[in-house]
Amino acid sequence: MAEHILLRDLDVPDIKAFDVYVQHGGYEALRKAVGMTPAAVIDVVKASNLRGRGGAGFPTGVKWSFIPQSEPVKYVVVNADESEPGTFKDRQILEGNPHQLIEGAMIAAYAIQATAVYIYLRGEFWDIAANLDACIEDARKEGLIGPDVLGSGWSCEMYTHLGAGAYICGEESALLNSLQGLLGQPRVRPPFPAQKGGGLYYEATVVNNVETLTNVPWIITHGAEEYKKIGTPESPGPKIYCLSGHVAKPGNYELPLGITFRELIFEHAGGIPDGKQLKAILPSGASGPVLPATDAVLDTPLTYEAVAQIGSTLGSASIILMDETVNVAWAASKMMKFFAHESCGKCTPCREGTYWLRRRYEALLDGRAQARDIAILDDVASQMTGVTLCALGEFAVNPVRATIKHFRADYEAWIKQEAAEDKKAAKPAPAREKAAAR
Ligand SMILES: Cc1cc2nc3c(=O)[nH]c(=O)nc-3n(C[C@H](O)[C@H](O)[C@H](O)COP(=O)(O)O)c2cc1C
Ligand code: SF4
Repeated sequence: MAEHILLRDLDVPDIKAFDVYVQHGGYEALRKAVGMTPAAVIDVVKASNLRGRGGAGFPTGVKWSFIPQSEPVKYVVVNADESEPGTFKDRQILEGNPHQLIEGAMIAAYAIQATAVYIYLRGEFWDIAANLDACIEDARKEGLIGPDVLGSGWSCEMYTHLGAGAYICGEESALLNSLQGLLGQPRVRPPFPAQKGGGLYYEATVVNNVETLTNVPWIITHGAEEYKKIGTPESPGPKIYCLSGHVAKPGNYELPLGITFRELIFEHAGGIPDGKQLKAILPSGASGPVLPATDAVLDTPLTYEAVAQIGSTLGSASIILMDETVNVAWAASKMMKFFAHESCGKCTPCREGTYWLRRRYEALLDGRAQARDIAILDDVASQMTGVTLCALGEFAVNPVRATIKHFRADYEAWIKQEAAEDKKAAKPAPAREKAAAR
């Protein structure tokens, strides 16, 4: 892939400025789209097989087609919450190439004939929101947003909104609640956001990720067939991979879907620093199951289906690497602390489960755990599986079960080491004290 489609700031200096964006073909895709019927726009995006980049990989055109056209009030909500640990791709788009997102969101809005677009940003993005407001104003002055967009007879407003720093507000139904001024907790579904009763202000709503929508202008300009030449048939297009942890050149890499872990890590990102061995890979931040860095894993293509086949998820492709120095049980304890903190508390299995799991990990780190605690961790996590109201509860199970499956030795080593240290120091906690601490 010679040129960047999403991270155009890397090729075109100051592409974030309205005039520069327009000089480089900006807003031509929106002009083209409003000359088509809304249904034809949806058909192109459907044919491109663009899949949502927010985590689940759901086909975008199909999502848009769920919106009942008969509803008079419809919304597009842009998910710019970007809270997954290790994810920092939407930020670069928002900072470096904001007009392409605005254009993509307006095309989505035209396709479903939305009356307004809301961009929901994580609270820390206050400076990005201020800049987006200025960009929206520039586009409005040119008739690209607001009443009678480009003389099409269709009117659509665009607003930004800042969250207040909760991971759960990236989950689409919690995000909608938060945007409405309600407590940021997930809703019971159905009704789904695309249905009347399930969306923003209970109107039919499309929720899409920033990166997803930033693909859309290119697809409208170049067509679905050209888009499908990038990536693989089931997972087409470019993807921004966020690389962090033990890697020589951390950062965002825009490359086609379908390249392997090995190509990404060793050819593009310079491999593992200090001659260390790669031990473990988190392909999707804290929320997806960890993978051991075997040859089979390293040669797996980065597509939604191939990563699922080896027992994990591509998610938003926030790839965190751990070298041989990391005890993966320790890493799991950090992730559990995160999930216990971010659980919204609405449903019992997640609220109680993450609390107790966090406490077991604390016992492990404090040297109060015994061998049977590994089975207890696995048992508590298994009881949470499939019974939580939203996917956060499922995410919280992954650090436990996948790390025990692939790195049980790290748990055992930790427990053994702690026992040995206790013996050496001849200061084992009195039995009663230990029991109370549990
Ligand atoms: C706990 C949790 C956090 C999430 N955080 C985000 C997020 O920060 N950004 C995002 O785009 N999607 C996030 N999602 C996924 C959204 O619920 C939703 O699937 C996505 O915004 C849909 O957009 P897409 O179809 O373009 O991928 C999260 C989901 C869960 C369960
Ligand atoms: S699974 Fe967790 S985050 Fe999701 S609704 Fe239940 S308590 Fe809240």
